[in-house]
Amino acid sequence: MSNRLVITIDGPSAAGKGSLARNLALFLDFSILDSGALYRAFAYFHNQGLNNKEIESSIEKLMFIPEKDDTKIFYEDTDITSSIRNEEIAKAASKLSALSDTRKSLIDIQRNFMPSNNLVADGRDMGTVVFPEAELKIFLVASAEVRAKRRYLELQNRGQEVNMRDLIADIEQRDMKDKTRTLSPLIPAEDSIVIDSSNMSLDEVLSFTKKLAKKELNK
Ligand code: DC
Repeated sequence: MSNRLVITIDGPSAAGKGSLARNLALFLDFSILDSGALYRAFAYFHNQGLNNKEIESSIEKLMFIPEKDDTKIFYEDTDITSSIRNEEIAKAASKLSALSDTRKSLIDIQRNFMPSNNLVADGRDMGTVVFPEAELKIFLVASAEVRAKRRYLELQNRGQEVNMRDLIADIEQRDMKDKTRTLSPLIPAEDSIVIDSSNMSLDEVLSFTKKLAKKELNK
């Protein structure tokens, strides 16, 4: 068991976990594990016809490069960020992530990710299943409308055209699937701190979380 510090950030789709995790990791100089990107990459490689073993070895080769506004995902020398951050892959990832074989393929990859580095890990089950011993657990929520608006702007910035009504419906449907699935359902860990960011800016959430992290680091 490694003695690194782990901070987990779980919550529904488009709650702002990615931005919070990236900024917190940059601030604390921690590594970042975007587990949603692993599930998306799983769907991407699955769509290319790879079997689970082949997908696992491809995912082990992924590199995450946190930048100020985004975390870039590279497979070998190819930037696959926009190939996995689109609604088609999000839907496929949601379906595949409910299967036990998929979760089994990814659990050790997540636990062994950069084993000697302190880590900020974001996803759905980071605090409940993957890192139950994490020192600080955040559960970030926001209303479906607020999340759809944020996702809309994010996709628009990437040059992807989407319909707001479809986006809200997709988000609500995916929430329902993520919350009600048998394996690793989306629920806050008992010892997590729940933050509702519906009426908070990223900076407000970030400064609140930084205070919690500093308290933890000073223990
Ligand atoms: O956070 P995201 O939208 O990039 O996640 C993509 C999908 O992967 C989402 O439907 C839920 C799933 N997922 C999961 O089941 N467990 C995680 N730890 C992270 C993501």
